[in-house]
Amino acid sequence: MSQLTETAVKGPHSNLREKYGCLIGGEITGSGSGNTFPTINPATGEKLADVPDCDARDVNRAVEAAQKAYPGWRRLTPMERAEYCRRFAARLRERADVYAMLDALDSGNTVKAMRQDVANAARLHDYFAGLAPELKGETIPANTQTFNFTLREPFGVVGRITPFNHPILFAASRLAAPLVAGNTVVLKPAEQTPLSALEMAHDLKEIFPPGVVNVISGDGPQAGAPLVKHPAVRRVAFTGSVEVGREIMRAAADGLKTISLELGGKNPMVIFPDVDLDQAVASAFNGMNYCWVQGQSCGSTSRLFLHADIHDAFLARLTERVKAVRIGLPTDEATEMGCLVSQQQFDKVMSYIELGKKEGAQLVAGGGKPSNPELQCGYFVLPTIFDQVDYRMRLAQEEIFGPVQSVITWKNLDELIPMANSVLYGLTASIWTRDFAAAYRLAQEIEAGYVWINDSSRHFTGVPFGGYKQSGLGREESYSELLSYTQIKSINVNLA
Ligand code: NAI
Ligand code: MG
Repeated sequence: MSQLTETAVKGPHSNLREKYGCLIGGEITGSGSGNTFPTINPATGEKLADVPDCDARDVNRAVEAAQKAYPGWRRLTPMERAEYCRRFAARLRERADVYAMLDALDSGNTVKAMRQDVANAARLHDYFAGLAPELKGETIPANTQTFNFTLREPFGVVGRITPFNHPILFAASRLAAPLVAGNTVVLKPAEQTPLSALEMAHDLKEIFPPGVVNVISGDGPQAGAPLVKHPAVRRVAFTGSVEVGREIMRAAADGLKTISLELGGKNPMVIFPDVDLDQAVASAFNGMNYCWVQGQSCGSTSRLFLHADIHDAFLARLTERVKAVRIGLPTDEATEMGCLVSQQQFDKVMSYIELGKKEGAQLVAGGGKPSNPELQCGYFVLPTIFDQVDYRMRLAQEEIFGPVQSVITWKNLDELIPMANSVLYGLTASIWTRDFAAAYRLAQEIEAGYVWINDSSRHFTGVPFGGYKQSGLGREESYSELLSYTQIKSINVNLA
């Protein structure tokens, strides 16, 4: 029996462990206080497991373990460190079904989508492993009497904090660059979705030397904040909300730490009148990531700028597509769209739907829970489209982080550009037209770090991903991510 059918026969819950622990110094362990917190299945409300509720003392233990492992790890060659990441990538692929099912249970994302996330995480490990020989310096012809050269050295201990929307993808993939560069890591996954990272702890324990990667579960203020503040943590990498991003920046200022931040988005998709409607409609649907994370993505193109000439035809087709979405239990292979991660996310999304109505936008699809009886206990929200949105409405300015798309009508490019750039964010943008000159002009004018022309949603390994403005600092999934985990040391040899 294949692993897949075996899982189907035994049921999703067969992937759960009786007990979950953190990984500190190569040991699976509870929190020092013995405290735990429950993690729930947002599709059903059932409790899945109790996980360690770590605090500052556990952070200290984990950082000390990472410090202890650091000298040995950094003395390996980059190629030797890369070999560990390759083995880990292989393990992720072997156990993809387990990880995908845990995320489906814990986060509300579909098992199908999470299998893709595991594959992406594995690919990024292989990618950074392949870049290992590029951890090289330069020689500088400064003076004939000296030999001047640079080395790329690691920082030491990296603190890595991840959000709930792509649990295993963010927890696993963002270990690769710091590790290949020679750092050791303390990872803290989101409190809503800790299970896949705690499962990963067992694979990390088998593959990496003790202390090279440590995993602690706990909430932001209690476990995340001390990790950011710990004096031995010299580099902090964060993915999550803008508010917490700001807090991390402030906290990092005291220790003058190097940080990278991957934060929110309120991204524009601009449709010109000359497009193939079927292709562009499919892309507007995919760009919302309804069938990946129920729209809970920083990269979702949630502001849809439709040219007045095609507005009605486009919206009719898009509405038809979202109404056909198969919303269902995330663990079910046939489900296209799962549920939101928590009561808090559900309340937030519903409050924006109410706000949109109050602001005078016109609801044309979704707007609430599906009627399926089996989905009544979960945080399910139908894909929701508002038409007649003014770009200044809060609905069109603030990140909702859910399945809500706002349609704004435009007529000429000079008016469109300031509307598209009117938000605090600048992560992604999508442009649909056959007129390459217009597309290229808009791509240059738009304030965003990742622009698609005649595409949306997809990430390409090696292409720098990150935000302009308040969408963040730094670029990931690329060579720049690897370099961001190094610092330059210049060495000057007197030859005279
Ligand atoms: P969050 O930013 O509060 O949490 C992300 C991570 O940061 C979690 O691991 C959390 O424990 C940790 N954290 C929280 N406070 C911290 C602190 N003071 N110091 C260190 N770590 C801390 O995001 P949350 O509450 O899960 O979601 C709220 C909103 O944030 C969403 O509705 C969405 O708008 C946005 N968000 C954006 C994400 C993105 O990918 N850009 C991902 C997750 C959330
Ligand atoms: Mg959960």
